[in-house]
This record gives sequence, C-alpha cells and structure tokens, in this order.
Amino acid sequence: MTSEIKLEAGLDSYSLNAFTREGEAIIRSDSLEYDVLRRLKSLMERLITAPRAIPPEAFVSRADKFANNLLYRPEDRIFSIMGGNWLPGQTTPIHDHLTWAVVGVCEGEERESIYRRIDDGSNPRKAR
Ligand SMILES: [Fe+2]
Repeated sequence: MTSEIKLEAGLDSYSLNAFTREGEAIIRSDSLEYDVLRRLKSLMERLITAPRAIPPEAFVSRADKFANNLLYRPEDRIFSIMGGNWLPGQTTPIHDHLTWAVVGVCEGEERESIYRRIDDGSNPRKAR
C-alpha cells in the first residue's frame, strides 16, 4: 500500500497527486492504447517540468544498484508510478515490462536498448 503523504508532497503548480488522479482516470477510461499514451505523455511532460511537484522519495538512489521507488499503485495494481534513479554507471538488467510504460526524465538522460528475442521462448529464465 502506498502513502497518501507522499502524494500530498507536491509544492508546485502541478502535483504528483494531480498527475496520479488524472492519469488513473485516463488509464481506466477504456480508451484505445494510443489515445491513453498520448494523453499520459501530455501529463508526464507537465509533471517533469514542475519538478518540485515530485516528492523527494522519488529521487532516492542506492549505491549498490539502480533504485526503483514506488510512489503509487492502486489496490488492483492496474498501473504503478515509480521514481527510478540510476547513479552514473548503473544499469538495469535486460527485462520485459510486458506492457507499455511512460517515462519522464527529470535529470540526466536515459538510454534504452530494444532487444528482439530470437529463441522459441520455452525457457523463461534464459533468452537469446
Ligand atoms: Fe524498463
């Protein structure tokens, strides 16, 4: 369960609380995926250009590996809002989100590599 205190930490003209409320309405609207993503992109741009709207918990890093800080997830887990932090040189292992993601970068840059699986997928723990 997430804390409403985190969501109330917004100090800017836009807040994580507003982003969450508006984003959840879009996600639950049964719109076409393209339309959901287009609308979420607009909200994300608004959020990351009001960085004080994002609570400090989102920006906590870890020395040993990248940090993925959960900021909000509804009980039915239909989506989640995470604050991902990479210190210089940190990476994430190759992974599959199994769905779409909307990523906003507040500081630095993100580099992504897209892989195409070329084996038959019979071993979920190993891929080529
Ligand atoms: Fe990812």
